[in-house]
Amino acid sequence: MEERINDIVAECTAGIDAAVSVKELTDCKVKFLGKNGALTGILRNLKELNEQQRPLAGKLVNEARSLLETRFDARFRFLKEEELNRKLQAEKIDITITPHIREVGSLHPLNAVRRKIESFFISMGFSVYDGPEIETDYYNFEALNIPADHPAREMQDSFFITKNILLRSQTSAGQIRTMEKVKPPIKMISPGRTYRSDDLDATHSPMFHQIEGLVVDKGITMCDLKGILEMFAQHFFGQGTKIRFRPSYFPFTEPSVEVDVTCHNCHGAGCRICKGTGWIEVLGAGMVNRKVLEGCGIDPDEYTGFAFGMGLDRIAIIMSGLDFKAIFENDIRFLKQFK
Ligand code: DAH
Repeated sequence: MEERINDIVAECTAGIDAAVSVKELTDCKVKFLGKNGALTGILRNLKELNEQQRPLAGKLVNEARSLLETRFDARFRFLKEEELNRKLQAEKIDITITPHIREVGSLHPLNAVRRKIESFFISMGFSVYDGPEIETDYYNFEALNIPADHPAREMQDSFFITKNILLRSQTSAGQIRTMEKVKPPIKMISPGRTYRSDDLDATHSPMFHQIEGLVVDKGITMCDLKGILEMFAQHFFGQGTKIRFRPSYFPFTEPSVEVDVTCHNCHGAGCRICKGTGWIEVLGAGMVNRKVLEGCGIDPDEYTGFAFGMGLDRIAIIMSGLDFKAIFENDIRFLKQFK
């Protein structure tokens, strides 16, 4: 009996030492100490022994059990700790690793310029109108006092889709659409894409952006135009910026002007950016031609108005010192500079 118990203890101890996982150790415990285990089997057979042998055998079994349980406990603790260590090692976070820096996006310089211009005019009570990029000849030319054989059409080499439909060559088309719909007083700006048949180079692009402005009300004069453009120039190009009007010609305005601002770089002294003149041309403007008002059903004896149009890309280029190609190539290294 004693021998049998010693064998079980030896066998079980070998099993304990051989177990390399908690699972294996649990299986081993069941095998030797479980309800149907080897040691429990001896207890069950005690009744076959005589009265003298029985207490001794019971004592031996209990001693063996408690010895083995101590060994199991020790091995359990050891294996659990080992498992935990393995897990900790696998999940280790290396805080010295170079972090993955998240790139923060930025507005494209054109959008930044557009938003700044829009926010100024919105603050002055203008509403923003969005017109179609595919226009009819009527809105793009005819209603703006540029009839079919008018030489002014030559100024804008347009992309015609059919005889009467084209990609708009100027946001001025939006003036007509607005005046047809809205009764004066009108105060609106209309930003958007425009198209002309030019090759892409430093100063030209077949697609570019303009912002149109239109004010129509009773008693509007050229002074109002000058006043608002002066305020705009100071808001956009900085305090102290001056503007000047030069006589010009646009069929839809009479009189028409071209508007220069003092160079933001040299403040009028003359530099490379303003080609030594101290001035930079930024927009075209004028008093809305009577014929245009009439064509939209607005009485030119009762109402007058002014209009202006500026190239967004031109302004973005002036401010950034880059060119059309850089603006449209969308090279991230260039765009990043405008955060
Ligand atoms: N549409 C003109 C252009 O593309 C710019 C312009 C000039 C717009 C005078 C106007 C204006 O509204 O009054 O060259």
